[in-house]
Amino acid sequence: MQISKRIGEIKSKLNVDVTDEKVEQDIRNSVSRLAKEIGMDAEFSGKLLNIMLTESVKLQQRQQFTPRQTHLGIFMKAKQLEAAGKKIIHMEVGEPDYHPPRNVKSALIKSYESNHYHYTETKGILKLRQAIANKVQNSTREDQVIITAGARFAVFSAFASLLRIGDEVISIEPAWPAYKECADFVGAKINLLKTTLEQQWVPNARTLGKMINTSTKMIVMNYPNNPTGKVLDEKITEKIVSLAKDNNMYLLSDEVYSDYAFNGFKSILEYGYDKSIMISSFSKGHAMTGFRVGYAIANKDIVDKMAKVQATALTSVAEPMQHCALAALKGNDPYQNKKKMKKRLDLICSRLRKISFRFFEPQGAMYVYPKFKNDIEDDDVAVVERLLDLGVAVAPGSGFGDPYRRFIRISGCQPEDLLEEGLDRLEAAMLLG
Ligand SMILES: Cc1ncc(COP(=O)(O)O)c(C=O)c1O
Repeated sequence: MQISKRIGEIKSKLNVDVTDEKVEQDIRNSVSRLAKEIGMDAEFSGKLLNIMLTESVKLQQRQQFTPRQTHLGIFMKAKQLEAAGKKIIHMEVGEPDYHPPRNVKSALIKSYESNHYHYTETKGILKLRQAIANKVQNSTREDQVIITAGARFAVFSAFASLLRIGDEVISIEPAWPAYKECADFVGAKINLLKTTLEQQWVPNARTLGKMINTSTKMIVMNYPNNPTGKVLDEKITEKIVSLAKDNNMYLLSDEVYSDYAFNGFKSILEYGYDKSIMISSFSKGHAMTGFRVGYAIANKDIVDKMAKVQATALTSVAEPMQHCALAALKGNDPYQNKKKMKKRLDLICSRLRKISFRFFEPQGAMYVYPKFKNDIEDDDVAVVERLLDLGVAVAPGSGFGDPYRRFIRISGCQPEDLLEEGLDRLEAAMLLG
């Protein structure tokens, strides 16, 4: 730990990244050789190494002299500006601005009148689990469904129940930061498979294959993707599924944006892999973020394990909210919402084409993730701060992965007139740059 601390200080002085995949791989190879020599179990030695690497990285990160501006810092600044009377257009948010389905309101009232405000079975009320099972796939049974407090808690319970300290998980970047946060929380080591705009955000299956070792227990994917809007085609998904299968790993597929897939989308459930976990939610498609209802579908054994985590942490999702979710399933709101979101993202794209940005046209989700052209010298945080001064909040690209410092994420969760105004200011900010 003393040596790690010292190395951290030196790296900080030299402005060198804390982690180096090649060095890690070399260490892994020599540790596995040494373990073999002394007859130590390969998986166990891998776990011990991961614990040490994770601790060392944390310690080194603490030695960095100039911590970067975080999302939180930027949002705090937006709040301060608003409190001082400045109007901010919020194009950073990840929640729909429109209403939940109308019948959700009556379901909420009816829950009260019918005394539906008690603890429920940890996995959720039977009717909701049955309705979700019927919606996703005819062969899914209700005991393969767990209702969770948002997709976020589904992700957390999967990590907490299926991974142990020292295990490895592979996440495809850019990615929603919660996967890394959950891995850190349970003491698992996260390995990042980077994708690029130049490669149309397609993950390289060969690189993925090389990242797998005896400690790797899970792959996490999220399509339609936050922040890129990418939807993977079947061929590459099949390759990922077969890598998971060949190595007996869990495959967690976060599909919270599947209602916003513009040209079709095939859920992981349709690939028939027994160790896959499909996660979704009512937050995005039904605009019900604050109701906190999500769900996971997996084999019964996995669902039972996840239920133990949920039972320990929160007993069950609030019963009235589960009835609201059941009501929401009856309408066709997600379809209307998808049309609305597609129109907004088209508008953003058409404006971005005229400014200094390159981007992948979203095939789904609620965001555009553009990259500044080479003539802009600033990094994402500098651009985001400049934009804030002009009254527009967007998310810095590096919040979704360290290499993405020349990206910002623009959300379509505002009405078109506000988006237009925000994009006018964005254009002005880029001209200033
Ligand atoms: C990829 C992804 N998964 C899950 C969530 C959270 O969903 P929920 O509100 O259901 O917890 C988000 C929220 O932004 C997200 O972007």
